[in-house]
Amino acid sequence: MPPRPVLLVTNELPGAAQQRLEALSEVEVRQFRGLSQAELVDKAADADGLVCLLLDAVGADVARAGGGGRLKVVSTVSVGHDHVDKAALGAHGIRLGYTPDVLTDATADTTVLLALMAARRAKAGLEAVSGGTWGRFSLGGGGLLGTQFTGKTLGIVGLGRIGLATAQRLAPFGFARVLYSAPRAQPARASLVGAQHVDFGRLLAESDVVCVCCPLSDETRGIFDRAAFARMKPSAILVNTARGAIVNQDDLLEALDGARLAHAALDVTVPEPIPPTHPLVRHPRCTILPHIGSATVETRTAMANLAIDNALAGIFGRPMPAEVGP
Ligand code: DGY
Repeated sequence: MPPRPVLLVTNELPGAAQQRLEALSEVEVRQFRGLSQAELVDKAADADGLVCLLLDAVGADVARAGGGGRLKVVSTVSVGHDHVDKAALGAHGIRLGYTPDVLTDATADTTVLLALMAARRAKAGLEAVSGGTWGRFSLGGGGLLGTQFTGKTLGIVGLGRIGLATAQRLAPFGFARVLYSAPRAQPARASLVGAQHVDFGRLLAESDVVCVCCPLSDETRGIFDRAAFARMKPSAILVNTARGAIVNQDDLLEALDGARLAHAALDVTVPEPIPPTHPLVRHPRCTILPHIGSATVETRTAMANLAIDNALAGIFGRPMPAEVGP
């Protein structure tokens, strides 16, 4: 019997998807619990397919190692693929699979969670309870009065799947207007939430809640910088569930300290994990979650299953259920 193709998997998968992986008979699974970069390069050289996570840097070194025809597919268990050098893969004829759609709801839910946490000062409230400073009920809320969305303007940066799902969830909270910025107008999507296409500068200037829902790319890296914060309303809330590097964290800290921004609520940071001593972690007007946007049992299982499907399709030369286009 000819040897089976090798499927390299860099990490454990969630429950049911892990069981499915272990039962695969058409490939030999070589699975690890995290690989160093050198190990990843080394093991990719002997693999036909690679299932990786967003913390695996799949660069030109991996593509070169897997080049020469053996490695046919990289399948990331994520919708974001900024950790993968697509051009390098393409140069070696390696296909790239990802996991769109299945995490849209969970990530949009997390964006709403963070927006509400920021607006209603949940971080300060939780700290008051756990720190024993929850005082007698007062109409002033003991300094914990937040703000509400009624009549305000929602700004969505990137009206892709997650941006749209976020707008669909948040708009019913009573926002008067929904604005979005994107390289191109998306009239069909925008009509579903009555959103208006504006340029980034106008979105910053007019929005009360700004949700970052765009992918990290050369165009979006660091777009939330000092100049961007200077354009925002000092009462505005920034929510980022996309990628940490879209926000310049030094400039964010300066904006919070200088009262140029009311609150930042982040699910993504640079680095991840962000050290607990980082000033943003300690900042009373910065709420940080540990990159849990897609972290539900249902979504993570669906992501892992889709990644397995993509990998098998790539290895055996079939159409992939979700392939990153050229
Ligand atoms: C992704 O898939 O890109 C998310 O950031 C993690 O689920």
